[in-house]
Amino acid sequence: MKLLFATRNRGKIAELQQMVGERFEIVSLDAFPGVGEVEETGDTFEANAILKARAYARATGLVALADDSGLSVDALGGRPGVHSARYVEGSDEDRVCAVLRELEGVPDGQRGGEFVCVLALATPEGEVVTTRGVMRGVLTRAPRGTGGFGYDPIFEIEGTGKTTAEMSREEKARISHRGQAFRAMVPRLKALAQGVWPPKMG
Ligand code: IMP
Repeated sequence: MKLLFATRNRGKIAELQQMVGERFEIVSLDAFPGVGEVEETGDTFEANAILKARAYARATGLVALADDSGLSVDALGGRPGVHSARYVEGSDEDRVCAVLRELEGVPDGQRGGEFVCVLALATPEGEVVTTRGVMRGVLTRAPRGTGGFGYDPIFEIEGTGKTTAEMSREEKARISHRGQAFRAMVPRLKALAQGVWPPKMG
């Protein structure tokens, strides 16, 4: 069965293909050059993931999977949240600096936050199921590490002494919001391959 994963990120495609095995042939948006980007206008991760999955399923006639993710900082009322990717103009480094600046003066013990990832699976008819993964951590006072992307250099996992930018890809995937959401989606995809909708666990 063909499944569209609404991303142009080859790493994400390979990761999902490995998780679902031969039941699905995963195709990316690269296979549909005529299909335009879908704007993320929702104000929750769920709303944006559903918006994208439904739009791409409708446009391609395939069952489609889409993700939305970001960083929610407790002391900032959940910001940058759904605006994580474009919180301020410029680079990832600029966005990291902006968050650190906003957190100046916030004491240890109140610097908690979480990365959230929501995956939505939609049929061309518009039916949809979602899974969600959350990774809690603490916002550091300065960037550390060169791995990962985005806000990884300022996100420390308590008990490890490491930011997620100081972890190997495998180490991060085992605990990450994205890893959790993917692993929760796998049994649903397997159910779907057996003709079950809505695809429940098992
Ligand atoms: P999306 O492409 O709309 O899901 O935006 C995700 C944005 O959230 C990224 O551009 C990053 O800024 C941030 N983000 C999401 N997941 C991670 C992560 O695992 N590490 C660091 N930043 C992340």
